Amino acid sequence: MVFICIWLFATFFATGMSLDNGLARTPPMGWLTWIRFACNTDCDYDPNFCISEKLIKEMADHMVQDGYKDAGYEYVCIDDCWLAKERDENHRLQPDPKRFPNGIKHLADYVHSKGLKLGIYEDFGTKTCAGYPGSEFYMQLDAQTFAEWGVDLLKFDTCHSDAHDNKEGYPAMSMYLNQTGRPILFSCEWPYGELQQNLSSDYGPVRKYCNVWRNYWDVLDDFQYVKNIVKFYGDNNALFQKYSGPGGFFDPDQVIVGGIGMSHYQQRAQLAMWAMFSAPLMMSNDLRDIQNEARELLLNKYIISVDQDPLGAMATRVWVAQTE
Ligand SMILES: *[C@@H]1O[C@H](CO)[C@@H](O)[C@H](O)[C@H]1NC(C)=O
Ligand SMILES: *[C@@H]1O[C@H](CO)[C@@H](O)[C@H](O)[C@H]1NC(C)=O
Repeated sequence: MVFICIWLFATFFATGMSLDNGLARTPPMGWLTWIRFACNTDCDYDPNFCISEKLIKEMADHMVQDGYKDAGYEYVCIDDCWLAKERDENHRLQPDPKRFPNGIKHLADYVHSKGLKLGIYEDFGTKTCAGYPGSEFYMQLDAQTFAEWGVDLLKFDTCHSDAHDNKEGYPAMSMYLNQTGRPILFSCEWPYGELQQNLSSDYGPVRKYCNVWRNYWDVLDDFQYVKNIVKFYGDNNALFQKYSGPGGFFDPDQVIVGGIGMSHYQQRAQLAMWAMFSAPLMMSNDLRDIQNEARELLLNKYIISVDQDPLGAMATRVWVAQTE
């Protein structure tokens, strides 16, 4: 079944208060490891594709060399699987020593030297989704650690937790991040955790404590997933519009332009829809090896300017046609 939708721009303004850290005045743009590199930790067998300092540095280099930074892509983000299996003797998080031999501070310095920002990942529960140490019971210490390392964005996942706790836990982490004094963009999976456990979400508090928030299932490099997300955003359009605006944005997940699972026209459709949602544009692809047409699409200044509209207003779905 194919959905043909027509979307228009509305002039709704987000009503709720947004997180007051000066960040995400327009939707954040950057790159994230997950869809393309997932939890590949085998650097012996796969040195060019494992989650490592080398991979992040190479992506940062390409973001600058190939025009992405000039187009507005700013955050280079590591998802799950960067951690060592245990905290250190002072209970601090530490990266895997083999894959991040110089530590995260060094990597942040490198990324900053390119004029970019570094994003990192943790989880609200006892473990991350892939089983690395989670932040439960250590949120304050972890916020301090990230700030000391010079991290600029935290994606805070929701595995191994009870989503009933999200409405206390995510505001607590937001407060600890604030107390570090370092502006750190807070990317939450709070409503997504609630969705997974069949709880309803109250976007007022989410907008107050998070800069961006996932609220639906993961995207994959397959157009069916993109269509499901577009339908969910369309079906909930009137509600979501009220909470999208400077300081806080809905996150329909990563941009798969440059992958292998979607045709070029499907990739165009994804990017266009994400731009109309005022969504974060976090690419997950291999910038070292990307088709020219995908790169040109990602750098399309007209699409980016729709996404980066300073009003941050989400478009309105006005018509849906279903065809076989
Ligand atoms: C912390 O919150 C206060 C009050 O909302 C805000 O003025 C300040 O800029 C925030 N600081 C950081 C680092 O986010
Ligand atoms: C949520 O609802 C779905 C569909 O009704 C069900 O399959 C799933 O087990 C429920 N999950 C929880 C955590 O209750």
